[in-house]
Amino acid sequence: MQKISNLPKSKKVILKTRPNGNPVITDFDIIEEIASAPDDGEILIEVQALGIGAWIRTTLNEKAFHGATPIGGVLPSMGIGKVLISKSKKFSEGDIVSGPLSAQSYTTLNSDFFEKVANPEIDPFTQIGVLGVSTGLTSYFGIYDVGKVKKNDIVLISGAAGGVGMIVCQLAKIKGAKVIGVAGGKDKCDVLINEIGIDAAIDYKNQNVDKELKIHAENGIDIFFDNVGGEILDIALDNLKERARVVICGAISQYSHHNSIEGPSLYLRLAEKYAVMEGFTVMHFEHRYKEAYEELLDLYQKGLLKAPMHIEEGIENFPLALQKLFTGGNTGKLIVKI
Ligand SMILES: NC(=O)c1ccc[n+]([C@@H]2O[C@H](COP(=O)([O-])OP(=O)(O)OC[C@H]3O[C@@H](n4cnc5c(N)ncnc54)[C@H](OP(=O)(O)O)[C@@H]3O)[C@@H](O)[C@H]2O)c1
Repeated sequence: MQKISNLPKSKKVILKTRPNGNPVITDFDIIEEIASAPDDGEILIEVQALGIGAWIRTTLNEKAFHGATPIGGVLPSMGIGKVLISKSKKFSEGDIVSGPLSAQSYTTLNSDFFEKVANPEIDPFTQIGVLGVSTGLTSYFGIYDVGKVKKNDIVLISGAAGGVGMIVCQLAKIKGAKVIGVAGGKDKCDVLINEIGIDAAIDYKNQNVDKELKIHAENGIDIFFDNVGGEILDIALDNLKERARVVICGAISQYSHHNSIEGPSLYLRLAEKYAVMEGFTVMHFEHRYKEAYEELLDLYQKGLLKAPMHIEEGIENFPLALQKLFTGGNTGKLIVKI
């Protein structure tokens, strides 16, 4: 057991200035402090890996759905770590836990915020990616419960080569859908077709998305799973089939200019096509996390679900990783190994 008098130094990523547009590394600082000794009910966790999610950018604004990070505050992040000292009945030292660790190498927090990882033998990256709440579980509820994907549906997915996008692509294929992914660059499109096994990919940076979409889905699409928002959402609305479903999972193209959001202008297509557009957050499905986790684990263990990831090394690279998320620098789930 770690002696309370011998607490580790924790490196922390703090917000220096609120980003003006996409986050850049100069918006952040790294500081080092002795980790706090846990009080009753708290645990001290050695952080192993942190997920980089687009939602972190939204917390850098003064007002935010997930809570605003104050200037000088530690950035939020979900991740996996090992309990070093436990002053809680819920956990023992050595337990592997998941939860809101924040961007730091050691975290002391109330144990209520954390869950014991069900399969600690599985590496922390897979736990954050394919089995993680903001990647695998988001994909599962988004495409199955909101999108209601079924055999022979034609599904268009934006941000298809990202963490959520790649899992959604695979889950839709598993249900027997035809899947068309939209991603930035030929390399990402090649990965989607050759490694993830989708039917077609459109490189939105170099191709005309509307024109390409009409080639791959001449009669329109049954589902649009949107991670990006902005222009791509209007293109998808203009290509809906009757009774189509538009799933609003996220809008990463809009997070860096929240005061001038580019909304869809073709929303009347929903009426014309008797279609629905429905948003969700994974937290709306919290009561069913166990079910989704078990199904994803089963698919993963059977080799039916790949877990592509992009790993950056070291807490010092957390700001760079966040910057990369907004410039398309990742293929698969972006994770920082601590
Ligand atoms: N509803 C929920 O509960 C929930 C939970 C988790 C995540 N999400 C949402 O899911 C989406 C994906 O999140 P993720 O964490 O898996 O990230 P991600 O897709 O792994 O990474 C972001 C990707 O978005 C693309 N991108 C970035 N800026 C863009 C822009 N301006 N225009 C077009 N594409 C852009 C980039 O790919 P390209 O190279 O292809 O441009 C980048 O690699 C986000 O919108 C996020 O907010 C929602």
